[in-house]
Amino acid sequence: MQKIAVLGATGAVGQEFVMSLNKHPWFELTEIASSARSAGKKYVDALRDPVSGILRWHNPESVPEYIQDMVISKIEDVNPDKFDLIFTALNSDDAQTIEPSFARSIPVISTAAAFRYENDVPILIPGINDEHTELLDIQKKNKDWAGYIAPLPNCTTTGLAITLKPIIDKYGVKSVFMTSLQALSGAGRSPGVIALDIMDNVIPYIPKEEEKVQIETKKILGKLNQRSILPNNIKVSCTCMRVPVSDGHTESVFVETKDPVDPDLVKKEMLNFSKNVSIKELPTAPEDYILVHDDPTRPQPRVDREINDGMTTVVGRLRKDTVFENGIKYVLLSHNEKMGSAKGAVLLAELLKSKKMI
Ligand SMILES: NC(=O)c1ccc[n+]([C@@H]2O[C@H](COP(=O)([O-])OP(=O)(O)OC[C@H]3O[C@@H](n4cnc5c(N)ncnc54)[C@H](OP(=O)(O)O)[C@@H]3O)[C@@H](O)[C@H]2O)c1
Repeated sequence: MQKIAVLGATGAVGQEFVMSLNKHPWFELTEIASSARSAGKKYVDALRDPVSGILRWHNPESVPEYIQDMVISKIEDVNPDKFDLIFTALNSDDAQTIEPSFARSIPVISTAAAFRYENDVPILIPGINDEHTELLDIQKKNKDWAGYIAPLPNCTTTGLAITLKPIIDKYGVKSVFMTSLQALSGAGRSPGVIALDIMDNVIPYIPKEEEKVQIETKKILGKLNQRSILPNNIKVSCTCMRVPVSDGHTESVFVETKDPVDPDLVKKEMLNFSKNVSIKELPTAPEDYILVHDDPTRPQPRVDREINDGMTTVVGRLRKDTVFENGIKYVLLSHNEKMGSAKGAVLLAELLKSKKMI
């Protein structure tokens, strides 16, 4: 078993790490750390809101027994020599200073944006751009580190890049327009979205989200060269909105392809890609990487987000667009805390271990 620590274990993503690592066949979570507010407390006690008394545990299953009484460390007390790998679920500003201090000694898999845009840092989605992991060796050399920082994308980018990949490979893509309807949990636990602002409402702006999706999609679907990643030259435009849904980001996507497309062929490509995806033998990989509904009322977050424990990107409403000569439209659903962050990060760790990079 490889020893793991999670930094930011009390947050929305951190809690999902705790779930994803429970009884994991390869990884054992032996230390958790969070802010000074939580350090020194037992995990369950740190989750309890001091004012309302509510246990701020964001999962239908109970807090797993293995972690309930684990005492939360201060980040500065976590000794990297005791671990094979660190997962981080920190806000970007904290990640900026904390992640390099660990990457000097061991691999760090990050859900934060802090390093995603550096030249020698790939943005990884297992199954989509596995070859970009080679950039981690270049990063180690550049920085003279024993470890590296391997970030996942922003959770809104994940489903988009996953569904675009089979279309790009077969038909080529010129431009993409996407409008998202994003879940509340995507904003994190502290301060998150205030209930009174979102009840009976839609908020048509999420700070920095659209820029992240636009840059990250092109980088993930780009080509690795000797020192960096050459971004894909597709045009990506999007509007990101927050909606009163607990988990699962829904996205309405329009794709202008280079070659003529047809919804049935795109469905076939997506399902073929799903069937042959590189990571299907890894422990956290879903049975279906992409699932395509014919029912025009799906996907729906409440109904579809837990398919294969949130690791499947669910597509529906695949249809031809008639404005552009070669256009296709669809709706996708991706679980922001599972494939879109913590559980996707565990899958990435499995991929890196299978490549002997952990
Ligand atoms: N939520 C999602 O669906 C999602 C998806 C993909 C990526 N992400 C990214 O993942 C990261 C974590 O997001 P989140 O939603 O889990 O945020 P969150 O709920 O606000 O959790 C933040 C975590 O960081 C800890 N923390 C705060 N300040 C700290 C400090 N100075 N030193 C050490 N720990 C500190 C918090 O501990 P305390 O509890 O002690 O305050 C908490 O455990 C962010 O970068 C976010 O952008 C989130």
